[in-house]
Formats: sequence, C-alpha cells, structure tokens
Amino acid sequence: MSPLIQRPRRNRKSEAIRAMVEETRVTTDDLIFPLFLVDGKNQRSEVGSMPGIFRLSVDLMLKEIAECLKLGIRVFDVFPAVEDQWKDKTATKSYDPNFFYLKALRQIKKQFPEACIMTDVAMDPYSSDGHDGLVKDGKILNDETLEILGKMALAQAETGIDILGPSDMMDGRVGYIRKTLDENGFAEVSIMSYTAKYASGFYNPFRDALDSAPKFGDKKTYQMNPANRREALIEAEHDTAEGADFLMVKPALAYLDIIRLLRDNSSLPIAAYNVSGEYAMIKAAAQKGWLDGDRVMKETLLSIKRAGADVILTYFAKEFASSQPN
Ligand code: PBG
Repeated sequence: MSPLIQRPRRNRKSEAIRAMVEETRVTTDDLIFPLFLVDGKNQRSEVGSMPGIFRLSVDLMLKEIAECLKLGIRVFDVFPAVEDQWKDKTATKSYDPNFFYLKALRQIKKQFPEACIMTDVAMDPYSSDGHDGLVKDGKILNDETLEILGKMALAQAETGIDILGPSDMMDGRVGYIRKTLDENGFAEVSIMSYTAKYASGFYNPFRDALDSAPKFGDKKTYQMNPANRREALIEAEHDTAEGADFLMVKPALAYLDIIRLLRDNSSLPIAAYNVSGEYAMIKAAAQKGWLDGDRVMKETLLSIKRAGADVILTYFAKEFASSQPN
C-alpha cells in the first residue's frame, strides 16, 4: 500500500485534467500590439534588434491592422519614428495636426473605428535631446514639460484615438492630462499611465526602432530605480488619484513582483509592458537554436499574466494570435 495520501500528480495525468485545473490562460483579448509608424508611403524596414518587427508607413500599417483584426487583436499602441530634421528642444511636431503621426492616427481610426487605438504621450520621439522632458542646463524640467504633454495629449485626442499612454514619468502628468482632456470635451478618452516605469536596460531595441536614445545622460531622474518597490505604490496612489484608468508596470519580466504588488493594492486594471529587450532576448536565443521561441514566448506571456497583469503590451501579439486555434 502506498503511504502517500496526497498525490498532486493525479491532477496532471492527462491533457483533459491539466486543462481543467489550469489556473491562468492568456488570450488574444489580453494583448496590446505596439506598432512603429514612419512617414511616407510603402515604407517597411525591419528593426535590426527586433527580428519580425517593422517600422511601417501608414498605408502598410493599415494593412497590418486589418490582418491583426482578423486574428483577433483589437488594441494597438502606435509609436512614431521621427526623422532628425523634425526634432527640436520643445517637441513642436508632437502637437502639429499636420504632422504624419497625427494624420495617420486619424486615418487609422477612420478606417477601423472598431479598433482600440492607444498613443504615446512623451517628448522623446520628437526631442532633439532624446529625453522625455524639456531640457534646460542639463536638467529635465517637470512642470514646463507638463504643458507640452498637455498639448500633445489634446492633439492626439482630437484624432479620435481611444487611450492615451503617458510614458514620460513626469510628476503630476496624469492629472494634468486628465484636466486638459476634460476641459476640452474629451472626457471619454482613457489614460493608461506608465505608473511604475523603471530606468531599464531593456529599452535599447525600442530606442533603435525610433532612433530616440538620449543625446546625453540617462533617464534616472524621472524613470524609477530598479531597486525600488515601495516607490511603485507611491506612483500608483498618485496616478489613481489623478484619474488613471489603467496602471502599467514596465518592463515586465524583471518586475513580476511589482506587477503582483500593484495587482494586490489596486482595483484598477493592471497592464504590463513586455518590452523590446525582452522580445529581443527570446528572438536572439531562438534564432541561435538555443531556445524553442514559440514555447518560451507563451511561457513568458503566461508568467506576466500569472503575476497579475490583466493587459500585456507585447511585440509577440501577432505571433501569439497566429498560433491560436480559431
Ligand atoms: C519612451 C518610451 C520608451 C519605451 C516606450 N516609451 C523607452 C524609453 O523610456 O526610453 C520602451 C518600450 C520598449 O522598450 O519596448 N517614452
């Protein structure tokens, strides 16, 4: 007779039982697909450090969105890759309604009103300093930056997009943007705040994609210290009080504990950004044949959801959706 009364393996003995007791499941509905937009027509260039991810001009992006919608992806986060000649100290192009990013957003929403479009609110893609805030004497000014972010947010809201994503980490920006939107008749536009955004080494491929790396220094005076956990709660309290609709943790993989922390301390939906460097690591190892890319991609997304994320921004969205049975 077996001395064992409890045998957890019984609940693993068949595919049917394993599926029945499965605690976490990732679905395409959980995912947001980040897209990189460039000016022009018929433009398509692969990001060197992100195999399978392309910068697209709007005509090709419309095709990409159509394909993704067929696969069940309904939420997209569009980032602009801006040529150097259009960058300046104050990110003027970020609120010029005739600039290609805002024009493209209008086109996208017109063609796919059912798609949920998220935008990026931060100065870095348009800043000649490559920083998320206004730079003066080597310092990033907070309150002066808010004014620019407010103009940018309003210009984006006017295109008809659904969710604004302030990714800049200035103090008070969620409240400032919320107030600007509400005063201008955009009470329905949502804010997904980059709440706990860490000063991370995992963003480099994204900065390659947009050519948006800081021209001097680093982002440590506004993005959070990777060593800090309690500080994420302070940011979450502020963003919640200031009217955020979603709280985001970024990056995801090295910060699964922070995702869980916010999940346990907030009733808002928690988003996690599975960032460019996390994508690049898996792709590189898979290309070398060192990892099974598909399997590790799914395990990664699962881990982020299990940690407590309701929503995952991931460059794997299309690949994941393509691999799902209909
Ligand atoms: C900048 C921004 C960054 C990302 C999204 N918005 C990079 C940074 O803060 O330097 C990174 C996304 C990724 O790595 O996938 N506002």
